[in-house]
Amino acid sequence: MDKFLIQGGNSLIGKVEISGAKNSALPCLAATILTPETVTLHNVPYVKDLITQRRLLEDLGATVLTPELHTHKVKAENIEVFEAPYELVKTMRASVLALGPLLGRFGQAKVSLPGGCAIGTRPIDLHLKAFEQLGAKVSLEAGNVVARTPKGRLIGAETFFEKVSVTGTENVMMAAVLAKGKTTIHNAAREPEIGDLAELLNKMGAKVQGAGTETIIIDGVEGLHGAEHSIIPDRIETGTFIVAAAITGGELEISKCQPKHLVAVIKKLREAQVEITEIDENTLLVKCGDAPLKAKDVTTKPHPAFPTDMQAQYMALMTQASGKSTVVETIFENRFMHVAELIRMGAEIHIGGNTAVVHGKTRLMGAPVQASDLRASASLVLAALCASGETIVDRVYHIDRGYENIVRKLKKVGADIERVTENLAMSAE
Ligand code: UD1
Repeated sequence: MDKFLIQGGNSLIGKVEISGAKNSALPCLAATILTPETVTLHNVPYVKDLITQRRLLEDLGATVLTPELHTHKVKAENIEVFEAPYELVKTMRASVLALGPLLGRFGQAKVSLPGGCAIGTRPIDLHLKAFEQLGAKVSLEAGNVVARTPKGRLIGAETFFEKVSVTGTENVMMAAVLAKGKTTIHNAAREPEIGDLAELLNKMGAKVQGAGTETIIIDGVEGLHGAEHSIIPDRIETGTFIVAAAITGGELEISKCQPKHLVAVIKKLREAQVEITEIDENTLLVKCGDAPLKAKDVTTKPHPAFPTDMQAQYMALMTQASGKSTVVETIFENRFMHVAELIRMGAEIHIGGNTAVVHGKTRLMGAPVQASDLRASASLVLAALCASGETIVDRVYHIDRGYENIVRKLKKVGADIERVTENLAMSAE
């Protein structure tokens, strides 16, 4: 298993370019299942989850070409199987995004039920309930969710999410674009990735309105056609680099991002005394101002509020702020796996239920630590960048799932970080 060796203490100074959003590229790739024609996606990040998603499409029978590293040309003309197997779903929960488009176009889909994961149980009951409202028959067979449309085609309907769900909203959008009649999604997720997916679907000939609001209205069409689309920048990678500049007392120019997608994060970090200047609509300049970092409370909530995917990185920053900050996680249970590791590095953090109280500023010291999920890994890398001495971050396959070239990007701006690949005998565990 690969590890990162990080010598802390260097201020990060220079320029970083943000990659395409993993959480947008995943549903957009799934959406290519909806048409037999070619869909070309640009700015697809080269990360492990996207490699898995490509494999899923190929297993279904689609042809995927990558004329350039970040461009995927998908032709889902000859789909032969309608199933996302356990083997894929267990490595990437977002494989469940195949359900909506398979059901919408072919009237049948089988997806292994995702089990527990490091950040909680993460059920898909709300996706399934909405499919049933569109007329699908859903059953559980040997650990798989099997969905079928008895009438051959889904029927547009009123659907309501009791809890805001990002992939749930995306799945229903993709199912409903080919349904007969009108579908309304109430209490829809409003994340920028939803807007990006809607834009792609509309380019493919769908009729989706209201993406980015709580109510999405979809008029079903008979068929979709090919399209070309560029994925939005990754707002979580952007936020992670803002914290990297702040936590190391550095100065980073972050380009190819969209600050308008992370208003709550920028606002909170400014309150914590991080100096963030919007140079233009795609570029940020981040530096640590003269004033020391200030402890500020945060609560994670669905977009447009502070995202759960930035909670772990923000907590690493708060270990370097003066005072007490309270971090409340309302989206996922069990999303404080990074806390024990930060404590091992010298942080003072107390957890009670879904609340972590961070006492800063603490001097962090390098230590061997273990990544437990994607964003927890990012938080440990950030902590290591400002710790004294060497940190060994183990299980970095988690970070490979969602951060493109993180080692190269960090090294370019002055971080002392190396990836160490252990030999196969050592990693066969
Ligand atoms: C997506 C993101 C993930 C992010 C999360 C919350 C992708 C690929 N992943 O995950 O990075 O952390 O949104 O912003 O886009 N829930 C149910 N039943 C359901 C669906 C969800 O109870 O059927 C619950 C979940 O357990 C969780 C909450 O709803 O507590 C939100 O989950 P959801 O928005 O669905 O997260 P994902 O779409 O899986």
